[in-house]
Amino acid sequence: MRAIGVEAAGVTKRFGAFTALDDVSLKVRPGTVHALLGENGAGKSTFVKCLLGYYRADSGDFVIGDRQEAIAQPQDADRLGLGMVYQHFTLVPSMSAAENLVMARADVPRVIAWKAERKRLGEFMSRMPFKIPLDIALGMLAAGERQKAEILKQLYLQRRVIVLDEPTSTLTPQEAEDVLNLMRELATSGELTIIIITHKLKEVMAFADEVTVLRRGRMAGGGKVGELTAIDMTTMMIGAAHEPGTLTRSGDPEAAARLTIRDLRSLGDHGRAGLDIAALDVRPHEILGIAGVSGNGQRELMEVLGGQRPPTGGEIRVADRSYHARRNEMHALGVRLLPEEPLRNACAPGMSVIANLNLRTFDRTDNGARRFWLDRRRMAERGRTMIEMFGIRTPSPDAPIGALSGGNVQRSVLARELDGDVEVLIVANPCFGLDVKAVAEIRARIVAARNAGTAMLLISADLDELLELSDRIVVMCEGKIVYETPGTGADAHEIGRHMAGHA
Ligand SMILES: Nc1ncnc2c1ncn2[C@@H]1O[C@H](COP(=O)(O)OP(=O)(O)OP(=O)(O)O)[C@@H](O)[C@H]1O
Ligand SMILES: [Mg+2]
Repeated sequence: MRAIGVEAAGVTKRFGAFTALDDVSLKVRPGTVHALLGENGAGKSTFVKCLLGYYRADSGDFVIGDRQEAIAQPQDADRLGLGMVYQHFTLVPSMSAAENLVMARADVPRVIAWKAERKRLGEFMSRMPFKIPLDIALGMLAAGERQKAEILKQLYLQRRVIVLDEPTSTLTPQEAEDVLNLMRELATSGELTIIIITHKLKEVMAFADEVTVLRRGRMAGGGKVGELTAIDMTTMMIGAAHEPGTLTRSGDPEAAARLTIRDLRSLGDHGRAGLDIAALDVRPHEILGIAGVSGNGQRELMEVLGGQRPPTGGEIRVADRSYHARRNEMHALGVRLLPEEPLRNACAPGMSVIANLNLRTFDRTDNGARRFWLDRRRMAERGRTMIEMFGIRTPSPDAPIGALSGGNVQRSVLARELDGDVEVLIVANPCFGLDVKAVAEIRARIVAARNAGTAMLLISADLDELLELSDRIVVMCEGKIVYETPGTGADAHEIGRHMAGHA
């Protein structure tokens, strides 16, 4: 059996005065799938980063295999056969998947025999449940494809233990199932021990053997999956049973569209079909959901609407005025965006939470006029209100936003983008990485914005989310809108067929 066990005893980790992990002990048996659960900010990522030598625990021990090991730096973890797929991307974006994989090997020779390497890589890829383009710079790929490359890298390195931090969030349901099935098989056959962090209890129930639950940095419980119910697990996570709220819609979509897109074209990355949208309208009091397999133009559309990619033709209008995604237009027309990977695409990671919450408004007075000096007191006040209203968990309002847990970054950006009068809101995967409670909260806020009259374009890789939230759903495939259906009574299978291009 190649797989080895992992044990932690009394692991504590502090960041300044803040204790992120407090005396955490757990045991992962070799060849099992062990799920690590907990609310946003519970300390899951911090724990696995200590295990991987990315952070140094203040106290506590790790036993890897049957030996106590000091894991002081990532190289130590590497040597022990521990690998990790992080919540954020770690591969070099300017290099291709092939280059990234080969370069990641510890024994990479000084002169690379590319022909032999390609052969080896080809054989490896033929055993994998999914494919990615091997020769295109990873930075050009959609999040879902990059996620797959990160997983492939760990498998390529022949680890003995793999830690996955929310691996399926950017994948389609089918891809997620394939990845989890593969992990399950590798564990059962004794090849690998798997530690998986996820917020999806369905995945835990179907694929994990045991769970450990963290709450606010402490152990809150755990056990064999077969002996626990989903309610047991959420109760351990949040300290009480979670009551899912019901979303109430009020107000029907108005007749006149607020966001109109006509004949919009843009180039696609690396020879992929670009955008080619004949017509797309979003009305006030309407959530228009865009379904599609990641990599079919969603990212290009988001970039065009956010001003990061120039369209090559067509027109976008907001409230009947021409729109070119400039910052002052966005301000005047009330257009807001929540892109995917918000830490990378919508934050200044080294700046404070307060500064990030004020990015849209720091140069404006309260009534929208231009301001020439910063009102730091007003910024702090606004920031604190948003932190309070959205329940953003941060060590301090002045902490760099890059130090927040994934879910709390997401909440921060949404808090900022929902602040003030929002005429058009464009969101991509808004619940990516959020815990059950936060998902319910964010969805309620999205519906509340719709009820208040916002016209909303919701791009999501999560079909369940689209079915729950959308007034209308369209499917995007190879840059085109290929199918449309009302949200009520929408047929998931029919949507799935169009997503896969089998229409
Ligand atoms: N480098 C750091 N500096 C300061 N505080 C940090 C740092 N890293 C994490 N924290 C804090 O430690 C706590 C735990 O964060 P962690 O990222 O481990 O949470 P998580 O359980 O992974 O949450 P999520 O589900 O949102 O990813 C959070 O309150 C976070 O703000
Ligand atoms: Mg995390």
